[in-house]
Amino acid sequence: MNTLSNTSHSAAVPETLSPGLENIVAAETVLSHVDGAEGRLIVRGYDLAQLSSRSFEAVLGLLWRDFAAGPSSEAEIAAALGRARARIFPLVKDGLAATAELTQVEALRLLLSQLSDEETDYHYIVAVAAVPVFAAAIARSRAGLDPVAPDPDVSHSADFLKMLHGKEVGSELVGALDTYLVTVADHGLNASTFTARVIASTKAGMFSSVIGALCALKGPLHGGAPGPVLDMLDAIGAEHNIQSWLTDALGRGERLMGFGHRIYRVRDPRADVLKTAVAALRDSGGRIGFAEAVEREALALLAQKKPLRPLQTNVEFYTALVLESVGFPRESFTNVFAAGRMAGWTAHVLEQDRVGKLIRPQSRYIGPSPQRTL
Ligand code: COA
Repeated sequence: MNTLSNTSHSAAVPETLSPGLENIVAAETVLSHVDGAEGRLIVRGYDLAQLSSRSFEAVLGLLWRDFAAGPSSEAEIAAALGRARARIFPLVKDGLAATAELTQVEALRLLLSQLSDEETDYHYIVAVAAVPVFAAAIARSRAGLDPVAPDPDVSHSADFLKMLHGKEVGSELVGALDTYLVTVADHGLNASTFTARVIASTKAGMFSSVIGALCALKGPLHGGAPGPVLDMLDAIGAEHNIQSWLTDALGRGERLMGFGHRIYRVRDPRADVLKTAVAALRDSGGRIGFAEAVEREALALLAQKKPLRPLQTNVEFYTALVLESVGFPRESFTNVFAAGRMAGWTAHVLEQDRVGKLIRPQSRYIGPSPQRTL
């Protein structure tokens, strides 16, 4: 191929090419660190296991600390989120009709687009408040139900479930959802967070940055695995089918959904936290015992069939069970993920704003040399 590689243009382009940006450090952050070799997730100096007993509001306070002058205590953040949810609710009525033909995550993208970057007052709080209001209304509309107005006086997780079900639900369900939101709040420089930081670096604004992040999360390689975990459990059907179904799937070279991870080479710490949350829901019905039996058999078979590749349960396996148990339809799972990850996206946008440097990597030109004539 005729390329410019020997021209003076290419002299300034570094030799190293990393198409997936693996092993490239593109940002410094105080927000979170993923230690894949040790199986640890550290969020602002705390192990995820330590944070899992804290509320989502407390973790928001931790992530936003030093970056924003607004509400900082758990109670102040809860109150500010409640007010913001109530303020946003009228946008549901204006936007919902236009979402009928869209998937639930596309509908969320459209409803969020009503927020203007010109509004700069506590935009990070508005962004976090907006997702449950919109996601609950979208899920209800797919079931032919009217949206339910927020209750500013209850916690963010309690209100999310109240807006979804149209009534208050038990504290064990609220606790499980809260643990889920905390568990997924931030996770290093993943694809959606990087997207948010790239957009933030152009000074496009908070809402544009987090909507861009949502677009990245929408891809099945990032935000899409918990639905397929439930599809797998549906396909297995009953305890007596577990071993034969899994053996056949592995025999056909298929991947078992909810196992393996690109970065965690030991156990995914988020899976442990969610496993505990799921255990607390055992008495709420559902198929938790069945899923645990599937997990046991899958781990045994994976260890036997892939002895050189440690394959452990990942966050998606227990995410599927938590979200199903608290009543979300699987088509809304990516939106619930976005409700939690919005914590990290907003914090990264605030942090990137402080950096103030446009993110602009280089590409290596491998097309033809300029032609003399058109
Ligand atoms: N079930 C069965 N085999 C699996 C597997 C799974 N869930 N995950 C990886 N493997 C096997 C591959 O088939 C491959 O085997 P081979 O070497 O004999 O060909 C080996 O492990 C390495 O696979 P690779 O794709 O290189 O691993 P990875 O670390 O890049 O993959 C995932 C990470 C997440 C993409 C992968 O584990 C996967 O597809 N898991 C299922 C989907 C899922 O749960 N996604 C949510 C992630 S949070």
